[in-house]
Amino acid sequence: MPSTRKAYRAAILHSIADPAVVGIEASYQYFEDGLLVTENGRISALGHATELLASLPADIEVVHHKDALITPGFIDTHIHLPQTGMVGAYGEQLLDWLNTYTFPCESQFADKAHAEEVAGIFIKELLRNGTTTALVFGSVHPQSVDAFFEQAQKLDLRMIAGKVMMDRNAPDYLTDTAESSYEQSKALIERWHGKGRLHYAVTPRFAPTSTPEQLTLAGQLLSEYPDLYMQTHISENLQEIEWVKELFPERKGYLDVYDHYQLLGERSVFAHGVHLCDDECARLAETGSAVAFCPTSNFFLGSGLFNLPMAEKHNLNVGLGTDVGAGTSFSLLHTLNEAYKVMQLQGARLSPFKSLYLATLGGARALRLEDRIGTLQPGTDADFLVLDYHATPLLSYRLQQANNIAETLFVLMTLGDDRTVLQTYAAGNLVHQR
Ligand code: GUN
Ligand code: ZN
Repeated sequence: MPSTRKAYRAAILHSIADPAVVGIEASYQYFEDGLLVTENGRISALGHATELLASLPADIEVVHHKDALITPGFIDTHIHLPQTGMVGAYGEQLLDWLNTYTFPCESQFADKAHAEEVAGIFIKELLRNGTTTALVFGSVHPQSVDAFFEQAQKLDLRMIAGKVMMDRNAPDYLTDTAESSYEQSKALIERWHGKGRLHYAVTPRFAPTSTPEQLTLAGQLLSEYPDLYMQTHISENLQEIEWVKELFPERKGYLDVYDHYQLLGERSVFAHGVHLCDDECARLAETGSAVAFCPTSNFFLGSGLFNLPMAEKHNLNVGLGTDVGAGTSFSLLHTLNEAYKVMQLQGARLSPFKSLYLATLGGARALRLEDRIGTLQPGTDADFLVLDYHATPLLSYRLQQANNIAETLFVLMTLGDDRTVLQTYAAGNLVHQR
């Protein structure tokens, strides 16, 4: 097989550990004049450009970006494909927002052609924003997941998705049954899980829209196949939490519902967790589960402020989620801008290196994929970004005043968005060029 070795020269930065655990200085590697070498879809070397170039054949193709920063691809641990067309739906909090806007919008995915059209827009939007891996909710229709995976496979993306399971408390036109959701999920697992870089996630929407029978079958699927993911929502909104108590009076609380049906575990990702208590954080951590922190969504729906310091205290895995369409942006840079404000409102800080960690290695750890994505370590997938220091006039001017990489990184997160992403690479292939 012919080698596809290529080298990229630029400033290069990646997270190598959680700053909350090892301290900021030991949490990252930065090469002011770095070189990233890729070969056959993987990263084969990383280091200082002058040193590494000396060890490479003189004729190797080197792409030089003089005013740019290479980082790992971003990881979005919570997003909804069928909500692409309803970002910015006015006026409601969670439960009314679902009934008024979300369910009618998702019903359109009964039509495979519609699902294909939106999947194309959705994937393009992910890549434009530098997101190379996402944990994705489809609609209740299996064809929404087929449409997504078919297109992700063509681009050789590392993606995780699942069909929503929802058999009560939603309109008839959008519900399945416990049995049909089990059979349809199983067929999708057989078709897609482990194919190339694709993975399947069992996806009960949230406790209020599943009967005990459906939650039992979701747990059964997880026990039947190795390495399946589980994604759902938890403790996002106070009314939602009261409703769960009414629907499951025999359980200790919201998390205990999922725990009872054996939905916690190392590949389980719970979106939001804004109102989790100390004991629930401890139980999530103990089971190796993860939480997706979704700041733009939590602001937009007026849900509340995620308590990241409490999660850190329990050593709970946390990734970042856009939660489009309750979230208002596909950009994880923009999402980090809002995450910073969530911490400010609680009298806490979010360092730029913790932010970088959340958007990359932290997300990879939440998904148990840190051996493959989230860093630029040699041997991992060549999923990376070229961020442009001159993306906008203000960014360009502001970065001229920055004195070090910490300041540069923080400004990129404060002023950055899709325009900042000059190029996105997945498995070594250019999949987006601004
Ligand atoms: N809880 C149940 N379904 C949803 C959803 O689609 N979005 C959000 N933000 N929360 C939910
Ligand atoms: Zn969501």
